[in-house]
Amino acid sequence: MKKKYRIGVLPGDGTGPEVIAEGLKVLQAAAEQTGFDYDLVHYDFGAQRYLKTGETLPDTAIEEMRQLDAIYLGAIGHPDVPPGILEKEILLKLRFSLDLYINLRPIRLYPGVATPLRDKGPQQIDFDVVRENTEGLYAGAGGCLKKGTPDEVAIQESINTRKGVERCLRYAFDYCRRRNRRKKLTLCGKTNVLTFAFDLWERAFHEVGAEYPDIQRDYAHVDAICMWMVKNPEWFDVIVTDNMFGDIITDLGAMIQGGMGIAAGGNINPQGVAMFEPIGGSAPKYSGRNVINPLAAIMAGQMMLAHLGESDAAVRVERAVMQTIEQDMQGMEAGKMGLGTREVGDRVVAHLAAL
Ligand code: IPM
Ligand code: MN
Repeated sequence: MKKKYRIGVLPGDGTGPEVIAEGLKVLQAAAEQTGFDYDLVHYDFGAQRYLKTGETLPDTAIEEMRQLDAIYLGAIGHPDVPPGILEKEILLKLRFSLDLYINLRPIRLYPGVATPLRDKGPQQIDFDVVRENTEGLYAGAGGCLKKGTPDEVAIQESINTRKGVERCLRYAFDYCRRRNRRKKLTLCGKTNVLTFAFDLWERAFHEVGAEYPDIQRDYAHVDAICMWMVKNPEWFDVIVTDNMFGDIITDLGAMIQGGMGIAAGGNINPQGVAMFEPIGGSAPKYSGRNVINPLAAIMAGQMMLAHLGESDAAVRVERAVMQTIEQDMQGMEAGKMGLGTREVGDRVVAHLAAL
């Protein structure tokens, strides 16, 4: 019997719906070709619904989503909604409530994609970042006093639990082993200044790492990591880090792999549901114009296939994307692809069919 999945689809705001439509096109083609089945559960959460009803993401939806095999998310954020509301009440709420404690972000430069790094190519830019996704500065601990006065105090604390850090590290070691390349895991921290938080991270890193004698342990401060990602990206195999540093270095990573048009990520609970998204955001100025690059969303769908265990489909979609880049596209930037959003999706489907 065919395997059947229940996949939640949350296209969201801006260009989210356009890129998710292309991702679903590719998903359908991959399913037909490799023989699995799925039902889609559609959700309309995002700016439109919030502006109309005041509702962001109700707890009943969270409970329903817990039962899904995966969630496919477009983008959250809209210029008519003050920053922070939708991000916190939808995106971060999903990550926290569903305990999606891993944010996996591959930094892979595909042949034919332009990188701003002179003298670096696909051989040199090929690593993954494992970002802790539920703690750190994102936990929301802190507060303020005397707001709006000259004596105002604002405190925002980084929460690092042994349990939260350890499960993230364990995933990173396992992932590094599965990836089976250089077998090197780099901890990205700031042990010279954040002497409480990264002391915990560093001790846990070596304690957990002792169980993985096949994985080489490496450490670098976050500022140095930024430097090396530009100067010597080939040094990295898998990087593991906390929520805030992971947020920052993966935007840098997205740039060296060719931009937001191609960068995808997965929010994963290894014991539960997972949510896959293009990491670029809602890009409102490009919405509705058929100019946004859907490859990041298509690659998020590809990661979803890999996560579901549909490795044949995942390999095929990646190959079809690589062929589309090499044979059909002029660039990765919105409006500079030489093709429209829908046409890129069509090309991926056509290459898939020809594999
Ligand atoms: C990301 C985004 C989010 C984050 C924002 C939108 C809350 O930048 O997914 O990297 O900071 O995690
Ligand atoms: Mn970010």
